[in-house]
Amino acid sequence: MNVLQVSAEIFPLLKTGGLADIAGALPAALNAAGCEVRVLLPGFAPIMADLQSSQVLAELTAPWGERVVLLQGVLGSLGIGAYVIDVPHLYLRPGTPYEDEQRQPYPDNHLRFALLGWMAAQLACGLDTHWPPAVVHSHDWHAALTSAYLAFGPARGRRVASVYTVHNLAYQGVFAPIHFFDLGLPPHAFSVNGLEFHGQLSFMKAGLYYADHITTVSPTYAQEIQTPEQGCGLDGLLRARAHDLSGILNAVDEAVWNPATDALIPHAFETTKPAGKARCKAALQQELGLALAPDAPLFGVVSRLTEQKGLSLVLGVIDDLIARGGQLVVLGTGDTSLEAAFRARAAANPQAVSVRIGYDEAYAHRIFSATDVTLVPSRFEPCGLTQMYGLKYGSLPLVHRVGGLADTVVDCALENLADGTANGFVFHDFTPEALDLAMRRALALYARKSEWHSVRQRAMQQSLGWDTAAAQYVALYRHLLV
Ligand code: ADP
Ligand code: GLC
Repeated sequence: MNVLQVSAEIFPLLKTGGLADIAGALPAALNAAGCEVRVLLPGFAPIMADLQSSQVLAELTAPWGERVVLLQGVLGSLGIGAYVIDVPHLYLRPGTPYEDEQRQPYPDNHLRFALLGWMAAQLACGLDTHWPPAVVHSHDWHAALTSAYLAFGPARGRRVASVYTVHNLAYQGVFAPIHFFDLGLPPHAFSVNGLEFHGQLSFMKAGLYYADHITTVSPTYAQEIQTPEQGCGLDGLLRARAHDLSGILNAVDEAVWNPATDALIPHAFETTKPAGKARCKAALQQELGLALAPDAPLFGVVSRLTEQKGLSLVLGVIDDLIARGGQLVVLGTGDTSLEAAFRARAAANPQAVSVRIGYDEAYAHRIFSATDVTLVPSRFEPCGLTQMYGLKYGSLPLVHRVGGLADTVVDCALENLADGTANGFVFHDFTPEALDLAMRRALALYARKSEWHSVRQRAMQQSLGWDTAAAQYVALYRHLLV
């Protein structure tokens, strides 16, 4: 089964968050499950640089009249077949894929990402005669126009299933209505039964409305987004499409995240040989100038510093954590006020708190390898990957019970300890008090060394690989093609 994956990011080439990790891992996982996967990506600089054996597949005219080139080749770092949209003036820019260096969205984002969906639809309709896809699977609002273009595209004469995965409903790709006319879609598509959202043009809504099937990245989030509280204004549409909506839990790319083989951490370790973890902790304390205290419980945060991630709660419990002998290490970037608040805490407590503002893949690995607890107190969380990386690296996750966090972490309550299901710490109410109680539960367990080690061992042994999710995607594709 030929499957075209469509996304704006892909690890290890271009990453602003978990979407890239998933886009990078899914092709190999689906190939192992019997699919033949190719990817379609915008021609951002790192992607162009990685594309090998490239040749021009087609020169086309975009709906707004611009000439565009589609390259075909192989991504050297991933060894997978790729189509790359080569339009330098749209994609070769400083900043992130979405924002300029002043963190402002590019004014032509609607065209930059409409082109991604439009090109996916061209491929679905047979642009590459040697490789007709059976399934086009697009990710997040950047690729969401795929299904709209497919719905209004040329007749295909054969079945192509479209799947749209929501990684985060909060980022919707909403633009001024005037831009609708650039897209080349029929006028009636700009209606409540289409791309219109409160008078605006919504890419997210195109995916939700026109895809054959919608998935999201955890079963709990699939339920949550059907409620007014978490539906971001789209819960009505999602409830109407409930029969075509499912949650498939993300997984961990064990080729990248495995403490037994990870070249980015100073000492390897695994469940049967855990000694390296204590050495990773000592190395990090040394590197950061924290007190060299092997028994101080070390908490870690690796996160975008945004409202979603609930880190204001952490600011509310830092003093208590320090008073109880704990340490905290933070790596993140995002809202300037959160950045400043965390920086101030580190400056006030340099022996116990270390904060690095920025994005650093290797340092993230060192943090998971060294810490005892990974904090993920998100207000909402579609899936969340860092709690799973924490599990793999024996850094027990402490999470708010939402979305994928609820689906992956089981609290160390006595009954869960007794039946062997506990793997972390969970709080229900989104308050500093609730977080503080969970933190104290973590500290209490940490003080009981043998219990801590047995929970940690179980967490590290948990199966978090891609087999299950890949099998679920393949079953979905097959179902849609019947
Ligand atoms: P989200 O996609 O909402 O940001 P996830 O937990 O799904 O959250 O994925 C975040 C990914 O980004 C993880 O791979 C995490 O390790 C990584 N990450 C987040 N912030 C940083 C940072 N400042 N430096 C390095 N990696 C980071
Ligand atoms: C989004 C979500 C995150 C999820 C990731 C990968 O960025 O915020 O919860 O893990 O996508 O699916």
